[in-house]
Amino acid sequence: MAVQVTENTPTVALGPAAALSCRECGQRFPLGPIFACQECFGPLEVAYDLPSGDPESLRKQIEAGPDNIWRYAPLLPVPADVADKPNLNPGFTKLVKADRLAAELGVTGGLYVKDDSGNPTHSFKDRVVAIAVEAARAFGFTTLSCSSTGNLAGAVGAAARRAGFQSCVFIPHDLEAGKVVMAAVYGGDLVGIEGNYDDVNRFCSELIGDPLGEGWGFVNVNLRPYYGEGSKTLAYEICEQLGWRLPDQIVIPIASGSQLTKIDKGLKELIALGLVEDKPYKIFGAQAEGCSPVSTAFKAGHDVVRPQKPKTIAKSLAIGNPADGPYVLDIARRTGGAVDDVDDEQVVDAIKLLARTEGIFAETAGGVTVGVTKKLIEQGVLDPSLTTVVLNTGDGLKTLDAVAPTSGPTATIRPDLDAFRAAGLAR
Ligand SMILES: Cc1ncc(COP(=O)(O)O)c(C=O)c1O
Ligand SMILES: [Zn+2]
Repeated sequence: MAVQVTENTPTVALGPAAALSCRECGQRFPLGPIFACQECFGPLEVAYDLPSGDPESLRKQIEAGPDNIWRYAPLLPVPADVADKPNLNPGFTKLVKADRLAAELGVTGGLYVKDDSGNPTHSFKDRVVAIAVEAARAFGFTTLSCSSTGNLAGAVGAAARRAGFQSCVFIPHDLEAGKVVMAAVYGGDLVGIEGNYDDVNRFCSELIGDPLGEGWGFVNVNLRPYYGEGSKTLAYEICEQLGWRLPDQIVIPIASGSQLTKIDKGLKELIALGLVEDKPYKIFGAQAEGCSPVSTAFKAGHDVVRPQKPKTIAKSLAIGNPADGPYVLDIARRTGGAVDDVDDEQVVDAIKLLARTEGIFAETAGGVTVGVTKKLIEQGVLDPSLTTVVLNTGDGLKTLDAVAPTSGPTATIRPDLDAFRAAGLAR
């Protein structure tokens, strides 16, 4: 029997968060460390009593806030005094006007790269973890954990240290060295699982249901409804940085699909609150060909996402059975967007294109996103005359192996002027 939210339901204080509600049937539940509907097993998400009133004063309140995600605390499931607690304070990363990349891709309507490699552990995952940490504090968890394709493990390891939790994170055993080091260096436990991400995630779900998992908050499993809300801050920041304007098109990488669905939620909230003008926007999803379950379903016109066994250099996106896949399909179709994929060679080319044109070194996920953007422009699916935002969600230093085979010194010479001249490097 489902627990219904009534006026008398005791609830923890997480700012404007009022309840959890089922994405499928709308049933509401009190705020707690639960993630699936007890009626229909649909995913739960945070429902709010959002601030009502004058959008101009809310805008001013936000603008006067700290230069991190806590400026949006009135729209997030976090306590009002969140900025005073020990945390990594991610967010408010650069929105780079990418004119050289635009020229190369033929975009005339304004092209921007939202560069989330500037977060504390160099990926967008710091945003989602920061929100999950507040939920973990509220629910009294002592250990912070996750199943991860790499970036989340580092973000959880770091946030746990800062916020005073134990940590134990789980990854596929064969991740990139940079991701493994970042997940290990903060000193919590790091467990490599013999299997792919989907095996890791299944194992974590089992651990939660076992007494062994008592007191453990898995940021992307039993804290997933709160965790997901962190991605809304990307939508808020992009619009604020554009002068409180919605972009026309956004291109977003997909692993589980959570980030994409929550950016859409964030944009809808900004419209509902009157913080931006109500106008159409298109959302595009990007996958690697070697792990493209959502893109495959999109192109085939299916509503169901068939799981795949991943094989791609874009390991951070290598989720073969994405939890939010069907919702991504809905959003791409509803907004007039699309989901597409690029192969590993195109990923590397796109990493280099972004680096060469804008001085931004993306990890493979950013290569996927820029590569899909290029492909969709060439195919006439993405309109080059519209304002377009492309997400770079992680730092290239974590996936050096992807570009190492095709990058190196222009020349190696003796330290003398004749050798320099002979190498043909004089400008
Ligand atoms: C760098 C990077 N970008 C994007 C994603 C996709 O995230 P989501 O699972 O929310 O789709 C991930 C997931 O791990 C990631 O590490
Ligand atoms: Zn339900």
